[in-house]
Amino acid sequence: MKGIVFSKFIEFVEECFSPEMADDIIESSDLPSGGAYTSVGTYDHREMLQLVTALSEKSGTPVPDLVRSFGCHLFGILAGAYPQFLEGIDSSLDFLQLIENYIHVEVRKLYPDAELPTFEHCSPSANQLELIYHSKRPLGDLAHGLIEGCAAHFGDTLSIEREELLVEEGTSIRFLLTRQV
Ligand code: HEM
Repeated sequence: MKGIVFSKFIEFVEECFSPEMADDIIESSDLPSGGAYTSVGTYDHREMLQLVTALSEKSGTPVPDLVRSFGCHLFGILAGAYPQFLEGIDSSLDFLQLIENYIHVEVRKLYPDAELPTFEHCSPSANQLELIYHSKRPLGDLAHGLIEGCAAHFGDTLSIEREELLVEEGTSIRFLLTRQV
């Protein structure tokens, strides 16, 4: 996982909890990297799960809730860092359809070693999008939070139905998104 995701996670903890909490979880997690993340570096995604587990233990907030909140916060940061990806798009459902064949394709050009999920999508109706997340990593809550952050960014109210799909390897989740009109 790219260092930018880790450094934004540490900033999220500093802002939403406290700088002491951020130091505390790094110290108690016994991380292979030691917790010194640079934006261009690449680290084991399991370090993120270690940090979130430590944060959950110390804060009493369940891990999935923390990962979702972080995902929601992360969307705003990504949108600010890569405004070119949002140009000309005025709705969350339009944007979310572009992740697989445009956004993450561009991300791969910037970071050839990025570990990205894949998405399948279809639109059952004008105000609905089915998005199926597949990844080797168990980061469906991050995807869920990113979808929520995307909806907030475009000012859309989305209802999100989520179904875990049974797969032999990795994680697959079907998100059915319905825009309230
Ligand atoms: C401007 C928009 C976006 C940008 C620039 C972006 C970029 C990135 C980057 C840099 C990573 C990290 C790759 C790595 O750590 O190696 C990533 C991972 C990820 N992205 Fe995106 N992304 C965007 C939007 C989204 C949205 C809207 C979703 C949700 C539907 C999403 C789902 C994910 C997930 C879940 C991961 C974690 C890796 C995994 O699950 O396997 N991204 N993305």
